[in-house]
Amino acid sequence: METIILPINDQSIQKAKEILLNGGIVGIPTETVYGLAGVGTNPQAVKKIFEVKGRPSDNPLIAHVHKDFDFLSISRETNTYYKKLKSAFTPGPLTMVFESNGAVCTEALAGGDTVAIRVPSHEGCQQLLKAINLPLVAPSANLSKHVSPVTAEHVYEDLKGKIPLILDGGKCNGGIESTVLDVTGETPRILRSGLITKEMIESVVGCCLIAEHKESDKVKSPGVKYSHYMPKCATARYEESELNIALAYYDEQESLGEKVYIMCSERIKALVGKRKVLSLGSTPNEMASLLYERLREAEKVATLLIAIKDGASGGVYDGLFNRLDKACKKI
Ligand code: TXA
Ligand code: MG
Repeated sequence: METIILPINDQSIQKAKEILLNGGIVGIPTETVYGLAGVGTNPQAVKKIFEVKGRPSDNPLIAHVHKDFDFLSISRETNTYYKKLKSAFTPGPLTMVFESNGAVCTEALAGGDTVAIRVPSHEGCQQLLKAINLPLVAPSANLSKHVSPVTAEHVYEDLKGKIPLILDGGKCNGGIESTVLDVTGETPRILRSGLITKEMIESVVGCCLIAEHKESDKVKSPGVKYSHYMPKCATARYEESELNIALAYYDEQESLGEKVYIMCSERIKALVGKRKVLSLGSTPNEMASLLYERLREAEKVATLLIAIKDGASGGVYDGLFNRLDKACKKI
């Protein structure tokens, strides 16, 4: 199959709509990462998504809808506080998990009884969702375990020959996947951290829990148990407090002939001398926006990537370090 990339506009949206309504799947931009979309009420389309990605079938998909879509047409209301979160943070990178009413097919929900709903803010993506007026289920458009894609070219690298069309909506600004928030209980609970932070949610509804993903727990958000976001080069990860050890490791590995790069913030970059750096920029939002791009660059230029984490936490750092910890091995 030939895979074409088209800039997202009225014409390409019509083409995508035709493919989707015929049970096909398409690469689409969102403000977080690119998605691999199919109609969520069509089990055949959903099966294709799982096959093409090589995704474990017990990991459910997020249903993407346009901003005027009635959530209650695919979910059941168990609480009302979600409405405040919806009006504060959507369209945007917040996914809320509801009880399903069965409208989205069971294959997309991995057999579970909840449905995750998200309203992306990317304008082209909104137009596509409006045009189709159905929930599009879409995981990130990478091969399972690989780094999530933030450009149409990244999608092409992973999925060329496997899907007919990628809509190019430019580089994703957000850079890490949406916050996944369980709103079925009395208090909202973060299942996957992201750009909508615990602090932001608390500012609207007062209280927000963070799910602990322990080995022994029945996993509530299955995606978090898998290894993820891994670049194809070797990796190592250090805390800022271990800077000297990290730099010694860099020097040793370089002298052994490895092509070594450090990935870190601009602030840490100033502390590493003339060593080669893939910079994540300065603010946590900028770092989130650049993380996957840098991981994909590292695959092309490095045989060993050494990530050094800022000594910081809370807010967007939670989501950023959650991804970085999965992408780069602690040694
Ligand atoms: O920003 C995003 O969320 C991107 C873009 C494409 O929208 N999508 C994305 O999808 O990251 P994916 O499939 O790579 O990750 C979805 C996460 C997984 O951790 C999955 O387990 C969780 O959301 N999830 C999906 N449905 C769920 C449900 N019903 N209950 C709990 N967790 C769910
Ligand atoms: Mg993913």
